[in-house]
Amino acid sequence: MNTPNPSQVALITGVGRRIGAALAEHLLSQGHRVIGTYRKSTPKLTELIERGLIALPCELTDPMAARTLATAVADATARLDVIIHNASVWYDDQTCALDPNRCGELYQVHVTTPVQITEELQRLLPANDRQGRADRLVVFMTDTAAHTGESDHLHYLASKAAAESAARSLAKRLAPHTRVNALAPGLILFHPEDDTSYRKQRLAQNLLPFEPGAGVICHTIDFLMACPAIDATTIRVDNGHQG
Ligand SMILES: NC(=O)c1ccc[n+]([C@@H]2O[C@H](COP(=O)([O-])OP(=O)(O)OC[C@H]3O[C@@H](n4cnc5c(N)ncnc54)[C@H](OP(=O)(O)O)[C@@H]3O)[C@@H](O)[C@H]2O)c1
Repeated sequence: MNTPNPSQVALITGVGRRIGAALAEHLLSQGHRVIGTYRKSTPKLTELIERGLIALPCELTDPMAARTLATAVADATARLDVIIHNASVWYDDQTCALDPNRCGELYQVHVTTPVQITEELQRLLPANDRQGRADRLVVFMTDTAAHTGESDHLHYLASKAAAESAARSLAKRLAPHTRVNALAPGLILFHPEDDTSYRKQRLAQNLLPFEPGAGVICHTIDFLMACPAIDATTIRVDNGHQG
């Protein structure tokens, strides 16, 4: 088993808040170089930049996003060990019904642009086969409910299921120089506005009814980085979510 290399370089999309910010903070604190994308500046982003984050603006629904971002990443680093496709939108079906463009946005943010970013980066900053061992890890952040379904987030969950499928196809296309996996969280962090009854109802869906926080995602990324034999799979981090 490898231990995480202090000199690794990671790209994380959507680091301005919540899990993306926690991942960036965690990897920086371990001595890695972190490149993070953002749309709008936040106090958390400013804090991360002060700690060494290389911040790149990126709107994933922009058709040129992948090319522009990959070029900026290749200008910023000569190597890239980890890509975490974390950025996400959580539209419910009512929102999608009112504006069908939202459905397309879900696929652009969760599937199309992350696939294009991965491939553009392989073109500009190639990962190499090290005698059967990959030297790049790509992680798609998906959602455990893509496996169980939800009556009010059909489009969102379908796009996350598509991201898991894309991860498996990319794993085949990019082996052996790159490993591609999905990390499917369950409830990790509530939003401040979530009320007590919503919190109770969400927690009751899990065998382990507690809010785990972003640390469990950081642990899982550490594990994926350290273990060179995990490829083309989905790791569910979901407190035993039962749907
Ligand atoms: N938190 C949970 O309990 C939970 C549960 C299941 C799955 N997940 C998955 O885990 C990941 C992180 O979750 P989270 O709760 O931290 O997400 P979040 O709070 O919704 O943050 C998502 C990030 O994505 C960025 N983003 C959204 N649309 C974008 C676009 N069009 N272009 C570029 N960036 C965009 C946001 O930037 P802005 O700040 O500019 O909007 C934000 O930084 C997501 O993939 C999510 O689906 C989380």
